[in-house]
Amino acid sequence: MNKATAVACSNIAFVKYWGKRDEALHLPLNSSLSMALSQATTTTTVAFDPGLAEDEIAIEGQAAPDPARLRVVRHLDRIRQMARVELRARVASRNSFPPDAGIASSASGFAALTLAATRAAGLDLSTRELSCLARLGSGSAARSIPGGFVEWHAGQDHESCCAEQIAAPQHWPELRDIVAVLEREPKSVGSTQGMALAQTSPHLTTRLAVIPGRLERAWQAILDRNLAALGEVSEEEAIELHLIAMSSRPPIYYWRPATLGLIHRVLAWRSEGLEVYFTIDAGPNVHLLCEEKDTGPIVAELEEMPEVQQIIVNAPGFRAHLCPEHLF
Ligand code: DP6
Repeated sequence: MNKATAVACSNIAFVKYWGKRDEALHLPLNSSLSMALSQATTTTTVAFDPGLAEDEIAIEGQAAPDPARLRVVRHLDRIRQMARVELRARVASRNSFPPDAGIASSASGFAALTLAATRAAGLDLSTRELSCLARLGSGSAARSIPGGFVEWHAGQDHESCCAEQIAAPQHWPELRDIVAVLEREPKSVGSTQGMALAQTSPHLTTRLAVIPGRLERAWQAILDRNLAALGEVSEEEAIELHLIAMSSRPPIYYWRPATLGLIHRVLAWRSEGLEVYFTIDAGPNVHLLCEEKDTGPIVAELEEMPEVQQIIVNAPGFRAHLCPEHLF
């Protein structure tokens, strides 16, 4: 087979990845823990084609511009080398969510690309091998290979630095991650660049010391389906990622006034008895964690807020898998 299509979910981290110990291999400073997002998926078709003189990469029907194109070509090169394939590839990729929704398309994108391209090249890799390989494209893509609730182990080296499912999506099907899109501009500083600055924050060593305890608490909260415990860790982690970013030199301010406004709303809703927590990635948008029964009232509140431009409600998503329909 020289053509394959795969679909993968993006993911939201409860315990975050923010800093690398090896930039080339995307080895993180710490293990992290996430959930696959059911409504934020990337579908990618890859075909190795003897008629092509160079890789042709289209994202949302448009030829990918550099540096995105180069990142994909480098990933295809890794796979060609593994499979001893010389042919250039045609790649088409589509996201289920708009590019400006502030959801990391690199996680779902590199997971789908890794599965589709390895299959198209004739390789049949294990989940673990796919996760390690996806990580070389983008760190968080390692967590988009398994589905449901996932731990990405910091590991010792390339082979041991992979993500693994800790609970299936059906373990906690009522959990929801509601993305409240507050700003559609591309983020001011990309994750790769932001992480490179993490080492300049005087607070990074303190953060690394508390991470093992947080991983343990988040892990237990997921096993117990304990939203209050998971929410508490997730909020600590979100605040700390931004503490590191804001205390980096030069500082990075990902929050907008509406970000802090929504944090205050979450605290107010909680004091009124609505069980909802927040987490925030490297950008201004806020993810709200709640259970299915509270989704209606929370979405209704968000719809009333003029600063909220879009709302995406996610359940625990599935593992990256092949699909029979191709994009071309
Ligand atoms: C803030 O995986 O996009 O979303 O490895 O440089 O491609 P690279 O970074 P990326 O970083 C995502 C960071 C985050 C937190 C997280 O998902 O854990």
